Amino acid sequence: MPSTERVPKPPWPLVATCTRGLEDVLAEELRSLGLGEAEIGRGSVRFAGDLRAVYRANLGLRTAIRVLLPLASGNATDRDSLYRLASTVGWERLTGPDQSLAVEAVGRTPELPHSGFAALVVKDAIVDRIRAHRRRRPNVDRADPDLRVHVHLGVDETAISLDSSGEPLSRRGYRLQGAEAPLTESLAAGLLLMAGYDGSRPFLDPMCGSGTLAAEAALIASRSAPGLERNFAAERWPFHDAGVLEDELRQARSRSRTPPAKIAANDIDPKTVAATKKNLRRAHMLRFVTVSRADIHDLDPPGPGSLIVTNPPYGHRLGELEKLRPLYRELGDALKQRAAGCTAWLLVGARELAKEIGLHASRRIVVFNGPIECRFFRYDLYAGSRRRQPPGEAGGSG
Ligand SMILES: C[S@@+](CC[C@H](N)C(=O)[O-])C[C@H]1O[C@@H](n2cnc3c(N)ncnc32)[C@H](O)[C@@H]1O
Repeated sequence: MPSTERVPKPPWPLVATCTRGLEDVLAEELRSLGLGEAEIGRGSVRFAGDLRAVYRANLGLRTAIRVLLPLASGNATDRDSLYRLASTVGWERLTGPDQSLAVEAVGRTPELPHSGFAALVVKDAIVDRIRAHRRRRPNVDRADPDLRVHVHLGVDETAISLDSSGEPLSRRGYRLQGAEAPLTESLAAGLLLMAGYDGSRPFLDPMCGSGTLAAEAALIASRSAPGLERNFAAERWPFHDAGVLEDELRQARSRSRTPPAKIAANDIDPKTVAATKKNLRRAHMLRFVTVSRADIHDLDPPGPGSLIVTNPPYGHRLGELEKLRPLYRELGDALKQRAAGCTAWLLVGARELAKEIGLHASRRIVVFNGPIECRFFRYDLYAGSRRRQPPGEAGGSG
């Protein structure tokens, strides 16, 4: 039996972290996984649950980066207060005698501007406390620890948590073949969920790069839990329950299906097309996706009422932006002329380029792709002509 007395009795407060802009989608995912009412924060969503909830969240969440179990939180903005906060946790009950640990910190305060130093402070507090109780120093293993401690430093509140995920959930493990500026897997899944994709209508990414959107579309459409192929840090917790995890895995596997509608991915670059195929094969999704080399000029949606989601090349330097203008015009024209009856969503990093699309956006959502503030535009592509907008209005309000 796992000794759950090592931690407070569940339901525990739990936190799922995400890219800013995806909080609402993540909260909806938690609800649909039966993980209760969620409270939305900035780049995170709080919920409550037990060990089963921890496993289910790690296996099933598409937009989360980590799932954390907070152990202590409070005002800790400098070295001494952080050390004191970390010393309040019963670390000696959370690690076995030969187990190792590692501490990772994010955020900063004016007195603790370097997260690496904050991690060292918490590590010292943990080591001192365990040594005082056991008369033995625990092992610190930053590469492959048994217990992963996560510190979120903030001026208002600092939280010290157990990280149940380990390797970020956003790294599914299938994307080894790169392309220019790939989306993270969790962001790609978030965009698709924001666009209302559930696999029931045909899907196309006409500028697929390394194929992240197509892979995530296939995972959603086939109802495949994104975490089935990997392990989680919680599996090394001293109160891990292999039986409960096995039950969650069985339930997750039993939900999978063959996608009911076509999924397609295209790119102009043959090397990128090859990379997409390799990534999809690694994700076990290649059989569900048709991958071809095609120019946006020859846009060919895979069926009536298709959903088209893509992120065209960004270009950040001035010269690059200028070079990309014709491509965005071509994309807008192709959507208008060749995708009537479809819905398109484009993730665009530069406003100037969005204007070149020349179509009226019916929605516009701000999303962060790493540090880049992007707009996710929705275009309803009606049959027949739709007025091209005068410059300055396109990519408009939503
Ligand atoms: C920003 S990347 C897409 C990244 C992708 N979402 C991922 O996660 O890897 C843009 C892609 O557009 C492709 N592209 C550029 N011009 C194109 C064109 N005329 N037709 C089709 N694809 C094009 C590029 O080869 C590149 O792979």
